[in-house]
Amino acid sequence: MKQILKRILVFVLFVFIAIQWYQPAFNVNKGEAAAKDFTRLYKMPAEVKTLFRNSCYDCHSNNTDYAWYDYIQPTRMLVEDHINEAKDDLNFSEWESYSNRKQERLLNSIKEQIVNRKMPLSSYALMHSKAKLSDDEIKKITDWLNAQNKAYE
Ligand code: HEC
Repeated sequence: MKQILKRILVFVLFVFIAIQWYQPAFNVNKGEAAAKDFTRLYKMPAEVKTLFRNSCYDCHSNNTDYAWYDYIQPTRMLVEDHINEAKDDLNFSEWESYSNRKQERLLNSIKEQIVNRKMPLSSYALMHSKAKLSDDEIKKITDWLNAQNKAYE
């Protein structure tokens, strides 16, 4: 019994070490286009800007601020998956290249995700306390978003 357990442990350790070699490209400075960036294009209070950047930009932009544990597999794969999926839907770094219609839809979607506490993803917020949004912060963002929607009418 002890022998089998030992072999399983050695095998798990081996797999853990082997997968460390798989390191996909990092999401850093991937076409950083300041001019197209959401928080630069819109006039918004500095506080709202910081909230977006702290809570959303690690996944929804071309620049992720990786934490030390993000470099370790299998976390690395999960993080990269989240970033790719998130950017497919919404990339704040490329905001200006979206059509007016898409921007309008996304502004509504952003509000919905924040109000319903679906974003930032709970697994991420658990590890990044800075990203967690309080009731007060949610209100600050939604107040600002509501003012933008009015501008569209
Ligand atoms: C840990 C990564 C992560 C963070 C941080 C994050 N998101 Fe997301 N987001 C995703 C993923 C993955 C998806 C796509 C899959 C899904 O819907 O769950 C997504 C989808 C979305 C969508 C849907 C887009 C659409 O097509 O309608 C919106 C809007 C959104 N996120 C807004 C935000 C906002 C706003 C923040 C910050 C408050 C944020 N997200 C933070 C990972 C993240």
